[in-house]
Order: sequence, then C-alpha cells, then structure tokens
Amino acid sequence: MTRTRRQWTVAVGATVVATLLAACGGAAPPAPAPAPEAAPAPVLEPVLPADPHSFARPDEARVRHVDLRLHVDFEARALTGAATLEIDRAPGADTLVLDTRDLDIEAVTTPVGDALAWELGEPVAHLGRPLRIALTPGLERVEVHYRTTEGAAAVQWLEPAQTTSGSPFLFTQGQAILTRTWIPTQDSPGIRQTYSATLTVPDALTAVMSAEMLTPEGEATDLGRVFRFELDRAIPPYLIALAVGELEFRSVGPRTGVWAEPEVVEAAAYEFADMEAMLDAAERLYGPYRWGRYDVLVLPPSFPFGGMENPRLTFATPTVLAGDRSLVSLIAHELAHSWSGNLVTNATWSDFWLNEGFTTYIENRIMEELQGAGYAAMLESLARAGLASEMEALGGPTSGETILHIDLEGRDPDEGMTAIAYDKGAAFLRTMESVVGRERFDAFLRQYFDDHAFQPMTTEEFLDYLDAHLLAGHPEWRAAIRPEEWVYQPGLPSNVAPVESEAFGLVEAEVTRLLDGVAPASLATEGWSTHEWLHFLQSLPDTMAEGRLAALDTTFGLSASRNSEILFAWLRIAIANRYEPAFGALEDFLTRQGRRKFLRPLYQDLAATDWGRELAVEIYRRARPTYHAVSRNSIDEVLNWPASE
Ligand code: BES
Ligand code: ZN
Repeated sequence: MTRTRRQWTVAVGATVVATLLAACGGAAPPAPAPAPEAAPAPVLEPVLPADPHSFARPDEARVRHVDLRLHVDFEARALTGAATLEIDRAPGADTLVLDTRDLDIEAVTTPVGDALAWELGEPVAHLGRPLRIALTPGLERVEVHYRTTEGAAAVQWLEPAQTTSGSPFLFTQGQAILTRTWIPTQDSPGIRQTYSATLTVPDALTAVMSAEMLTPEGEATDLGRVFRFELDRAIPPYLIALAVGELEFRSVGPRTGVWAEPEVVEAAAYEFADMEAMLDAAERLYGPYRWGRYDVLVLPPSFPFGGMENPRLTFATPTVLAGDRSLVSLIAHELAHSWSGNLVTNATWSDFWLNEGFTTYIENRIMEELQGAGYAAMLESLARAGLASEMEALGGPTSGETILHIDLEGRDPDEGMTAIAYDKGAAFLRTMESVVGRERFDAFLRQYFDDHAFQPMTTEEFLDYLDAHLLAGHPEWRAAIRPEEWVYQPGLPSNVAPVESEAFGLVEAEVTRLLDGVAPASLATEGWSTHEWLHFLQSLPDTMAEGRLAALDTTFGLSASRNSEILFAWLRIAIANRYEPAFGALEDFLTRQGRRKFLRPLYQDLAATDWGRELAVEIYRRARPTYHAVSRNSIDEVLNWPASE
C-alpha cells in the first residue's frame, strides 16, 4: 500500500502542482528533462524507512524546524496563527508534503508574504489529509497560516468547571499521530524537528511547552500575555506539546520541579519529591540526560493518559497523586523515555515496542535504584500478571496481536498500544540481561543510546545492532536469547526470565487464609504497600459472595480508597460480582477523571454483563463531554456510541 500510494502521490503531485502554479499566475518551473538512463532521483539523507502513517515524502523535502506563532483563543476554542517551516530539499524537489487533520488552512506563503500554491488531498482514515505545497526555486521556508477546528483530537479545551482553579485550561496530546491536528508539519516519528513558539494567551494564564521557556513570566501585550519557547534539540513531532492554564511552579531539585494548578501544586511537589534522585539514577545507568531540565506538569483529571514523556516537561495525570508516593514509578517511566523514545525513537509505530518496552525495563531499573530489588520485583510481577491477561484478551498466545513488531499499516497506531509493547518488550530486555549478565547488558544499552542519540530506530536495525555489539562471538547467548522469536513470533517465549516477589508470596498466603474463612480483619495486612494491595485484589477469585465483599469493603475501606489503582482494581471486582454498594464509588470514579486506562476496562466490564450496559450508557452520556478525544474514541467503540453524538 505504501508503494502504491507513493507512486500515485508522485505522479499526481507533479501535475497538480504545475496546474496550481499556473492558476496562481506563477510560471510553472520547466519540467526537468527526463534522465537518459533511469538515474535515481537524489534523495535527502539519512534515508528514512517508509511510514504508513504519514503522507510526508521526507526523501524529497523534509521539515527541520517548526516555528509557531499562535493565539490561544478560549472563546473560539481555537489556536489561530501560523507555522513557519524550515525545510531541507533534495535537488529537483518541487513539492513539500505535510500531514494535516481537521485543520483550516487559510494560506501558504513565503516568509515575505508571497502566496504559494497548495492543495489538500483527499482524507484517509486515521491519517487526515496531505497538504501539498508547490516550492519555488531555492525556497527554504514556508509559512502555513491556519486555525485548529473543533474536531482537533490533540487538543482539549477545559471549562472552568473541569479544573480545580476554576480557570479554563488547554492541553495537547501529540502521540501517536495527533500533532497534525494542531500543527501542519511532517508528523512521522522518523522526521526530527527542532521547534520554537510564540504563544499569546489570556492575561491570567500561563503557557508551558516541551521546550525551554524563554519568557518565564510572559510579556504583557494588548492581545494578552506572550510566552516564547525554544527547543534546540531535534525531536519527533509527536513530542511537541502545549498546556495553558492557571499554573504554578515548585522546585523539587536543582534540575527538577512540578507545574500544576495552585490547589494541586503542593501535593504534586510532595508526591514527586524523588524526581532529582530518579534523574541521577537514570544518568548513572544510561549516561547523561541531554535535555537540560526535567519538570512534570500535573494536568486536570481529564488527561487521557497516565503520563506523556514530552521533552523537559512530562505531562501527568493527577490520579498518581496518591498522597504516599506509591505510584511514582510512572514518573520513572516518563523520565526513562528521555533515553528510550525521545533520544532513540521508534522509526515507525510498528517499532513502538522499542520506545515502550525499553522504557518499561528502564523504569523498573530506576525504581530498583531508589527503592531496592524487592520493590522492583513487585512492580515487575504486577506487570507480568497484566501481560498474561492482556495476552488472553488479545486472542491468546498464537494471536498475531501479541507480536512485538506489529504491522499497523491501514490501522490506527493506537491499536498497537497494548501491554505487549510494554511488558513483553520489557520481558525481552530482562531475558537478555539475565543471559549476558547485568554489567554487560547495561554497558550495551548505554552504548546503544550514545550511538543512536537523536536518531530513529527500526526493529531490524536494533536486531542488527544487538548482533554486532552484544552477541558477536557468543553463539550460545544468541541461542539462549532467541531474538527473532521474541520480536516476530506471537506469545511469550518459554525462555522468559522469571520474576519472583517474596512479598507477593506472603500476600498469596493471606488470600488463601481469606478463602479458608479467616475474617478480613484477622489477615496480616499491616504495612502493606499499594503494590501488595493490588496483588491481593488481583489474586481474589472471579466470583465471591456478597458477604465477603462487604466484609472486605468495610474492613479495608476499598470503595472509599483515594488510591486510584487500588480503587480501580476493587471496582473491577465489584462489577464482576455485581456488588452494588460500590456503584456510587464507580460512578464517581468514571465521572471525576478521564484516564483511558481506568475508563475503558470499567466500561467494558459493565457492557459485558447482562445488567450493566444501561448503567454504562447512562454514566457515559453525562461524562463523555468531559473526556478527551483519545478516551472518547476508545469508549465510543466499547459502547457502539452513535457517531453523531
Ligand atoms: N508514551 C506513553 C503514552 C502514549 C502511548 C500516548 C501511545 C499515546 C500513544 C507513555 O509513556 C505511557 O506509556 N504512559 C502510560 C504510563 C506508564 C507508567 C506505563 C500510561 O499513560 O498509562
Ligand atoms: Zn511510555
């Protein structure tokens, strides 16, 4: 499909551009004389692998820098202004192709304002529409004047009622292919771009981005407060991110701090007090942190993910603010992306496991540095249990959906965002570590990041690098690891390194006692961490008598838990057993936060029962307008929500 589309685009693009140029009054450039022998057209280096989720033709004309000048208009719920794109061109290239989706393109000009010919191609499912721009000779900068639309899936505009401050709020979410809904650029993870931005926002609000803040206080102007940003390290466009709201900052370390709404910022600073230690630990393991500062922005509760690794400024859900720092491995995860993902980046979304599998492994290593091996073993053990149930949900160990290198052509890349990439990926790395030994594996990973810093990486290239730099001269290691089976075969290979948590053994003993009839109050639960509670809840049988559930609930206060993970695990049990006393808590949880990881399984569980569908629909009808498009799309599918609503 990629080849067919490329041929079509090249053929049609040339004619279209010539026609458009004529229509614009500009002289069409003379057609290049056909080469006598089929000499390959010169292409830009480095040559990138084809990305089926982008219309861009980066071998011909490639965006290297994006400069945004945007007005943040809360009344119109639109970002309006222009993006200036600096490009590299191969000799002879006369068309720049950008990705767009749900954008209103108003004009395309040169930096001095001369109109350029452009056209939008037909929309393609998930991908949006190519914006083809005719390049005049020597032109290296193109200005696209545009505004975002109500449909822009990356952007969520929050009403004052949806924030703790009572001020409006805006944030963007670029991964995987949503940046094109707010920035017209080449939206492929292999096409790295530096960026700068000038944002005009309402007076009382602050803008933050995944970039250096050049004007921390903003500058007052007639049109509002102006903030300027710059990121001089080239990143994949899915990492360009913006948030605007009533924000305050608290430092927690020399290079680390938190941003949040005023009511939340102290809690965030308390929860994430270990950020600097995490950063130090990650650097000891994998080499220098190359992004300057590492701050975390805690978003309002509708943020659809746990965290998003936007460079210099991780975006995080407030549902990790448990009050006891027990869910901070999420920060270790997003920080780990500063190496795996942001420094060395999956070349296409089929290589997503290179981002998330590596990151999940590194997350665990950082937590081990901070909290010790027993703590890390609990986390890894929970992840393995999650992997086992995801494997089942995806059709069992022979299902193609359980392959690490997943073919996503023609699909929404979001569909590759399963525990396979994360936890099967991490298990692969753990298996390599256990075969070659930790010291050697650490040195290998560190070298891998150094050798490919600021570059895209394909699965194939990684396997070649693995052979050349870790396994060369050791056929016995290769035989013990079986890399191709891990990457290209479904299921969990039998050589997977085992995980053992002693603490969880003790938890299981208490589950047995409970099932033997011991009252909840007599179980040895004192001092249990969140992770032990999670293992306890996940080890309970599928069906339990109402009396036992009630005893658990009243003894341990499960329905009233302020820990989102514990509450979530408990609510799944409540739905499975139709334990109605927890349904108030369920409804509350579904309406006060919008994190897809929590929402989707709960709606799914409800919809799968013979009594819960109506309840799910009733709650969703009210909650849907408060959810981000990412969560809405997933739950629309679960509930077969009519497209028009
Ligand atoms: N990069 C992901 C989030 C993501 C993936 C967004 C794919 C869009 C498409 C982020 O690093 C992540 O994995 N977040 C997890 C939390 C993490 C601790 C596993 C999440 O949001 O649940
Ligand atoms: Zn991640």
